[in-house]
Amino acid sequence: MNHGRNWPILLCKIGESEVLYKWNRRLWRYSLLSVVLLLLVTGSLVGCGGSGVPEEPLFDTSDPSVLRDLADQHGIGIGAAVISSLLIEEQYADTLAEHFNMIVAEYEMKWDPIQLTQGSFDFSGGDALVDFAEANGMKVRGHALVWHQATPDWVTNGSWTNDELMDIIKNHVTAVSQHYQGKIVAWDVANEALSDQSPYGLRGDSPFTKLGQDYIDEAFRAAHLVDPDALLFYNDYGVEGMNGKAQSMYNMVVGMLDRGVPIHGVGLQMHITTDGYPLTNRFEENVKRFTDLGLEVHITEADVRIRIPSSQTSRNLQAQVYHDLMAACLRNPKVTAFLTWGFTDNHSWVPDFFNGYGDALLFDKNYAKKQAYYGLQAALKGE
Ligand code: XIL
Repeated sequence: MNHGRNWPILLCKIGESEVLYKWNRRLWRYSLLSVVLLLLVTGSLVGCGGSGVPEEPLFDTSDPSVLRDLADQHGIGIGAAVISSLLIEEQYADTLAEHFNMIVAEYEMKWDPIQLTQGSFDFSGGDALVDFAEANGMKVRGHALVWHQATPDWVTNGSWTNDELMDIIKNHVTAVSQHYQGKIVAWDVANEALSDQSPYGLRGDSPFTKLGQDYIDEAFRAAHLVDPDALLFYNDYGVEGMNGKAQSMYNMVVGMLDRGVPIHGVGLQMHITTDGYPLTNRFEENVKRFTDLGLEVHITEADVRIRIPSSQTSRNLQAQVYHDLMAACLRNPKVTAFLTWGFTDNHSWVPDFFNGYGDALLFDKNYAKKQAYYGLQAALKGE
C-alpha cells in the first residue's frame, strides 16, 4: 500500500485498528510537521517572514510630501515613462502630474510610430505627451531617435547603400528634432547600440551597425544642428556598474568627445532586480567617471523587478534598492534626472518581458503608493 498517496483516508480512520493507529500517530507527526513547514513557506510568501508576524513596511508612510516637490528642491528631474492613450484615465493622469516633474514617451517618440512609412510623419502621440507636460509644468525627455528596435521595416529591410542609410538616419533625426525643437530637455539620440557580448562593440543585430560609429556621431550632429539647446544622450542597459560593456560605452563616449561630437550625457537604463546590482558593482564609481568627463548622467528607465506574487519582504527589499539608488545619485550633482519606466504596476512592460516578475514600480495596480515610493521619498529627504 502506498501510505503516502492514501494519507487522507488513513487520517479519517484513526483508531480503527492497532496497525493503522500506529501508522496514524506517525502520520499525525508527519502531517503536523508538513503543516508547520507549509505555514513557514506560505508565511514567508505572503510576507510573514516565517515568524507568523507580518513584516512591517520599512519606510515611514506618514509623510505626504510628493516626490516632485522634493526633487525640485534638489534640482533633479523625477520622471516616468508614459503612454499618451492612458492619459484619459483620470487616476493615471492625476498621479503622474502630482508626483513627477518629468515624463518620457514609453513608445510614441520612437521611429516606428513617427515615420512608419518613409516620408510620412505622425507626431500625434508625442505631441499629446508634450501638451500634457506643458499643462502640468513638467519637462520632457525624448526617447529615442535611433534604435535597432521599433524601427520600421522600410528602414531595416530596404536594400540601402551605406550612404542612403546614413541619409535616412539624418533625415529622421533632423525631422523629429525639428518638430520638437525647444520642447525636449534631453534626447536619447542613440539607444542600445552596443552588444552584450565581449568585446562589446556595436551590436550585430542592428541594421545601422554596418555604418560603424559614424552613424552615432552623425545622428548627434544632426540633432544638435536643429535643436542646440537639447542635451544629447547615449542610452543603454547593463552599463550601470563597472563591467566590460560600461567600459566599452566609456571608450565610445571619450572618442565622441575627442572628435567634437555634441554629446552631453549618458543614460543608464537601470532595469534591475533586488540582488543589489549595480550598487554592488561600483555604481557610483562608474557614474563618476562619466561625470568627470563633463557629462550629465540620467537614470532613464529604472524598474526594480521582483517575483510575483510579491511579499512585504520582497517589496521592502525593493524599496531599499530604490532608496539606495536615489541616495547614490544625489551624492553626485551631475546626475540630473531619475526616471522610472512607467509608474504604476498596472502598466509596466516588466511582466511581459521578464517571465515570473512584476510589481517593479512605485505605485501598485490601484495607484496606491508602495514602499518603493517611500524609499525614494526618504532618500530625497536625506534619510
Ligand atoms: C519598451 C517598452 O516598454 C515596450 O512597451 C515596447 O514594446 C518595447 O520597448 N529599453 C528601452 C525602451 O530603451 O525603449 C524599451 O521600452 C525597454 C528597454
